[in-house]
Amino acid sequence: MKKITIAIDGFSSTGKSTVAKQLAKALGYVYVDSGAMYRAVTLFAMQHQMISKDHFDVKRLVSALDTLKITFKYNDTLGFAEVYLNGINVENDIRTLEVSQSVSQVAEISEVRRMLVLQQQRMGEEKGVVMDGRDIGTVVFPDAELKVFMIASAETRAKRRHNELLERNEKVSFDDVLKNVESRDMIDSSRKDSPLLKAENAIEIDNSNLSLTTQFEKLYALAQNAIEHN
Ligand code: CDP
Ligand code: CDP
Repeated sequence: MKKITIAIDGFSSTGKSTVAKQLAKALGYVYVDSGAMYRAVTLFAMQHQMISKDHFDVKRLVSALDTLKITFKYNDTLGFAEVYLNGINVENDIRTLEVSQSVSQVAEISEVRRMLVLQQQRMGEEKGVVMDGRDIGTVVFPDAELKVFMIASAETRAKRRHNELLERNEKVSFDDVLKNVESRDMIDSSRKDSPLLKAENAIEIDNSNLSLTTQFEKLYALAQNAIEHN
């Protein structure tokens, strides 16, 4: 059967990666978490003291980009590909609130975006890919056969993310998580290079009141329809 490209964009913690993983599994496609790549660059900048709460040495990060290798390796037990930074598995280290608090600043840098977008486009060359992020339907795969744009209220999203962090034993307050979600929404939507916006032909889904199962069923039906008509 003909393979298509599926682009899932939207705000933080709308359930993009959860549904993208489920879709990829159901269709036998590759799942790519583009946000993990921006998070890995951010972790690199933090590890090399290029970024902290009140300081960001953009020049030093840009000049170090060619020393930075981001790869994915499929984990059979987890059922998805984990992200590696220069050969080291950083799948857990990139999900902390600390990384979330700097990632949108890193994602504003055009040199970073250029490098990651090229790599993302290469990963999708043969189609059969589900990729989630902020600019997948607008910049990375403007010709994707199915584009979805996910939204949900900030409160709902912060609650979801807060629960996730608590489950991972990261003791953070709900208020800090909400602040982070709102601040990333703002930076991601207003940056000059590839801002977060709904592609013209994207289908918007508000999942504030959708269960994971209903959300998956909706997207699976959309994917089947897109595959049949392309
Ligand atoms: O999981 P969550 O929605 O919180 O974020 P993510 O998908 O891991 O993305 C983290 C950050 O990376 C976003 O807030 C954006 O600043 C940036 N990002 C981006 O600019 N473009 C993408 N395609 C994916 C992520
Ligand atoms: O990738 P993104 O940041 O958009 O979100 P995610 O990591 O897939 O989902 C964030 C959290 O919200 C996860 O714990 C999901 O299980 C949860 N979620 C939910 O409870 N109900 C939904 N309809 C969507 C997501």
